[in-house]
Amino acid sequence: MANKKTVVPFQGTPEQEKQLREVIAGLKDTKGALMPIMQQAQDIYGYLPIEVQEIIATELGIPLSEVYGVATFYAQFALNPKGRNKISVCLGTACYVKGSGDVFDRISQRLGIKSGECTPDGKFSLEACRCIGACGLAPVMTINDEVYGRLTVDDVDTILAKYND
Ligand code: FES
Repeated sequence: MANKKTVVPFQGTPEQEKQLREVIAGLKDTKGALMPIMQQAQDIYGYLPIEVQEIIATELGIPLSEVYGVATFYAQFALNPKGRNKISVCLGTACYVKGSGDVFDRISQRLGIKSGECTPDGKFSLEACRCIGACGLAPVMTINDEVYGRLTVDDVDTILAKYND
């Protein structure tokens, strides 16, 4: 799975594009419009794929590199969609010293994605997080609202299999 292409196909709808163009039309003559447009674009699509960045750049008459630069600079913007199952591995100190880094690496390897990415089938996304206040269960990860504690790398396959429906 490690060599699998991780780019998730863009699946924007005409309705979403119409909404986006309305947002841009409403704000484009306002000073400092780029950030609010990007924020609303992310609300519409759930993330900021390059196709959406291109529309914003074209409509505002600015280079794509400028939009891309803002999208990658601010943590509030996501360049990849979230998966149907959002995996978040705690890399806070208590978890890290108990091996959460290895757990993270195993998941990354099994799914063929890095932090902040989503599998091409949209099933899983992976991210690292800071302490979630469950240090007594370290190392900890969450998948959606489910908390998994006292993990070992050997638990990873069994846990992921539960979500492979
Ligand atoms: S460090 Fe992981 S839950 Fe606190």
